[in-house]
Amino acid sequence: MIEATLEFHDLHPTPADLRADVLAGLRRRPRAIPPKFFYDAAGSKLFDAITELPEYYLTRTEVGVLREHAAEIAERVGTGSLLVEPGGGSCAKVRILLEGLRPCAYVPMDISREHLWVAAGEVAAEYPWLEVHAACTDFTRVMEVPPTAPEGPRVAFFPGSSIGNFGPEAAVDFMAAVAELVGKGGFLLIGVDLKKAKAMLNAAYDDAQGVTAAFNLNLLTRINRELGADFQSRLWAHKAGYDEAHGRVEMHLVSLARQTVTVAGEGFQFAAGETIHTENSYKYTVAEFSTLAARAGFTAEVVWTDSEQRFSVHLLRATV
Ligand code: TRP
Repeated sequence: MIEATLEFHDLHPTPADLRADVLAGLRRRPRAIPPKFFYDAAGSKLFDAITELPEYYLTRTEVGVLREHAAEIAERVGTGSLLVEPGGGSCAKVRILLEGLRPCAYVPMDISREHLWVAAGEVAAEYPWLEVHAACTDFTRVMEVPPTAPEGPRVAFFPGSSIGNFGPEAAVDFMAAVAELVGKGGFLLIGVDLKKAKAMLNAAYDDAQGVTAAFNLNLLTRINRELGADFQSRLWAHKAGYDEAHGRVEMHLVSLARQTVTVAGEGFQFAAGETIHTENSYKYTVAEFSTLAARAGFTAEVVWTDSEQRFSVHLLRATV
């Protein structure tokens, strides 16, 4: 029997990180909490459910593009690389690439420890030839290949339009860090949602079944549990919508009444209608995104889209 190879590196953010970021975000105006805190165990499960919603065209469109071009991706990238996936989460999409790429190792990184542990274990069991070196980390702070991982030409995989959850400037900074991680000549395969009609975007982020609303509201449940806060879910609502001027979908939690909430011993007053901004999801044209990638030190080798121009997958190469 071949033993599955799984190494697990734990750099999980501490409760102090959550506390400091949440308190700072609630003291500021407008109020905002970083989206990375969505992904506790329940949040990661809810996010997986979002990816299967009829309105959430992103995942299925991206998967279609990746499947269609998997052979060409493998041909251009070559085998034996070290494949790194920041925010690997459920490690679902990487399966499309593994047989073709035959990497020397796969390094999924994710902030959600249990979720990553289970998903990385499944990949290791399913691909006995593959070394998996999972790293539980907040990749916006620490993006390092674990020291036990083997050497190989590096390829980063960043699907799901997660790049849109950074602002454009932060997206450039993040991609510059990826360029450094993969090194000159290294690749970045990245999925980017495209600008499109408002109705389709609004539906994708405010589905009929209310899964996205539950995902957004779960942030408050998590803060209650982990920071001893007293948010009452029934006094908050999910709000999402495309802001054409900024080219982004904004996600908020709206206070339905004038209320005071205590978080880690500190009182916060909310007016009725006041919001906590929980996420942005920037949308780009292919040209706009190529410009950002170039600023981060990448050139586009190829860009693929689906036939309806909903979603793009860019194969980029680090030039510096
Ligand atoms: N990267 C995903 C996106 O921007 C994340 C996401 C999808 C998301 N739906 C969400 C984040 C709802 C928060 C709430 O599309």
